[in-house]
Amino acid sequence: FEHRALTGCHVVITAGPTREALDPVRYITNQSSGKMGYAIAEAAAEAGARVTLISGPVSLPTPNRVHRIDVISALEMYDATMAVVDAGCDIFIATAAVADYRPAELSEHKIKKADGDLVLTLVKNPDIVATVAAHPQRPFTVGFAAETRDVLTYAQGKLENKRLDMVATNDVSGPNVGFNSDNNALTVIWQGGHKVLPLAAKRQLANQLMELIAIRYKR
Ligand code: PMT
Repeated sequence: FEHRALTGCHVVITAGPTREALDPVRYITNQSSGKMGYAIAEAAAEAGARVTLISGPVSLPTPNRVHRIDVISALEMYDATMAVVDAGCDIFIATAAVADYRPAELSEHKIKKADGDLVLTLVKNPDIVATVAAHPQRPFTVGFAAETRDVLTYAQGKLENKRLDMVATNDVSGPNVGFNSDNNALTVIWQGGHKVLPLAAKRQLANQLMELIAIRYKR
């Protein structure tokens, strides 16, 4: 990876899970630890980029020379991301596991147990990476795809439907890759090409992914 290949670039990364509150003490979330996104932030900073990391609730230290913005919910992540993209950036990488849905209502008080079942209505959250890809000052936009089956078919769908420049797919059905693990394996696809990055530490994969991104971005 060419030393300081990303000097002068502003790279924006989302990482971690989001929390969608039901009431003051309960929320819906997922298994994302933030490790993949934080590893990418570290790799981008090491390659000389100015890095903004928009992070859901995780317990990881902020990498050196990375500007971190903490958010909780998908709507907060959306607002924080759009503010940064509006101000201008060169590369956007969406590693966050953003909740697709949030509870339709946020109860002001703790929901009480009652007789019978409780039915929750969930409403759709805005799609952050698709909105960035449709932005008038569109950065080079990279999405992730976490799938448990038909990984490549769904990833190809995301590349086209969300009009992304690149999609990094991971199979999250196994215990040793994807969510929370220290390792991962990625298949990266773009219009007219793909590259398989076999099982490795997330930090090492982050370097390989940033190198691919830097090459495609500069074309
Ligand atoms: O955090 P770790 O424990 O290290 O785990 C890493 C990871 C498995 C979370 C990561 O590698 C990964 O796959 N992240 C994407 C997880 C995901 O939610 O994928 P998805 O297929 O649901 O979403 C597709 C893409 O759209 C992603 O780039 C996602 O950030 C983005 N998205 C999704 C919904 C939404 N409302 N806004 C978005 O921007």
